[in-house]
Amino acid sequence: MTAYSFTHTPATPMPAEQREALLADPGFGDIFTEHMVSITWTREAGWHDAEVLPYGPIPMDPASSVLHYGQEIFEGLKAYRRADGSIVTFRPEANARRLNQSATRLALPEIPEDLFVQAVHELVTADRDWVPSGFDQSLYLRPFMIADESFLGVRAAQRARFMVIASPAGPYFSGGVKPVSIWLSQTLARAGHGGTGAAKCGGNYAASLAPQNEAAENGCQQVLFTDTATEDTIDELGGMNMFLVRADGTLLTPKLNGNILDGITRRSLIQLAKDRGHSVEERAVTVSEWRAGVADGSIIEAFACGTAAVITPIGQLKSTDFTIDFGDKAPGELTMSLREELTGIQTGAREDRHNWLDVI
Ligand code: PLP
Ligand code: COI
Repeated sequence: MTAYSFTHTPATPMPAEQREALLADPGFGDIFTEHMVSITWTREAGWHDAEVLPYGPIPMDPASSVLHYGQEIFEGLKAYRRADGSIVTFRPEANARRLNQSATRLALPEIPEDLFVQAVHELVTADRDWVPSGFDQSLYLRPFMIADESFLGVRAAQRARFMVIASPAGPYFSGGVKPVSIWLSQTLARAGHGGTGAAKCGGNYAASLAPQNEAAENGCQQVLFTDTATEDTIDELGGMNMFLVRADGTLLTPKLNGNILDGITRRSLIQLAKDRGHSVEERAVTVSEWRAGVADGSIIEAFACGTAAVITPIGQLKSTDFTIDFGDKAPGELTMSLREELTGIQTGAREDRHNWLDVI
């Protein structure tokens, strides 16, 4: 692994009592640590000027390409404080790989994977004291890349910036691990065949916000998107992948069809379930199948999964025409036991037998 050289400009530290008060109940995505990482790319010079600097506004020309044509990609991963005080991240090289896949789709430059991982290390090391230790708490890390050439022609920018910021986080859904209701988006889509659905780019999330508002208006916490061709084949939620669990212990999850994100939590859960001897079917999964399966008792659980959401039980799928409801059977047993196993690995309570942790 190459060690890159970063310049360090330390921030004025916040008094410990003030920081501890913020860490006691951080919410999700509201507060930020004291530092950030910035690395510049130009077509002529490649990646250079790697810096750890105080968190704050970044100078940007109003003609910067990201502001006009949306060339932006991001990642999400977490740093966990273990009981012995050590800090780990979960599969950061998988995030680096996925960022580069998104970069290719959005015509942004790839970043060396070891530079990505080192950037994460540099930030977590600088903001070590900001990794909370409470139940379901972590330091959420947000690496992202923007095009920032000042040019209004429509072509791939020749200048970009990679940054990492960090935000101490509690559960994504307020109220802890409670079953959520999800809304089936029937008229609005986030992705279509050949589009950017499999890339983690800001535009996909922008497209999900109006349907997410519709979900909220209908009392739901997340929105579910189906394939635009069938309007029945499940793609994913606005910010999470999803699974159904059959009564025989088989897990069903939509296959990677080019429209959905290749979730690292999804992959990890497929592995953990297979390790336990469960069958996992990665295939086209439909809303009709879910509805019929709940009606005849063959589908007994549903859950959402992602870095922010961890594993969140789904209690209900609502639409304008029907509701699928697990009633008081949610959260399901397998959902909660996989959750316990995954978070146990991340926080050191369980053995990391797949070598997923990266100790900072
Ligand atoms: N799908 C979408 C649209 C997401 O935003 C996320 C979150 O990152 C996921 C799936 C889950 O991916 P991961 O498990 O890698 O966080
Ligand atoms: C993540 O889980 O990291 C995401 O990017 C999803 C978003 C809902 C915060």
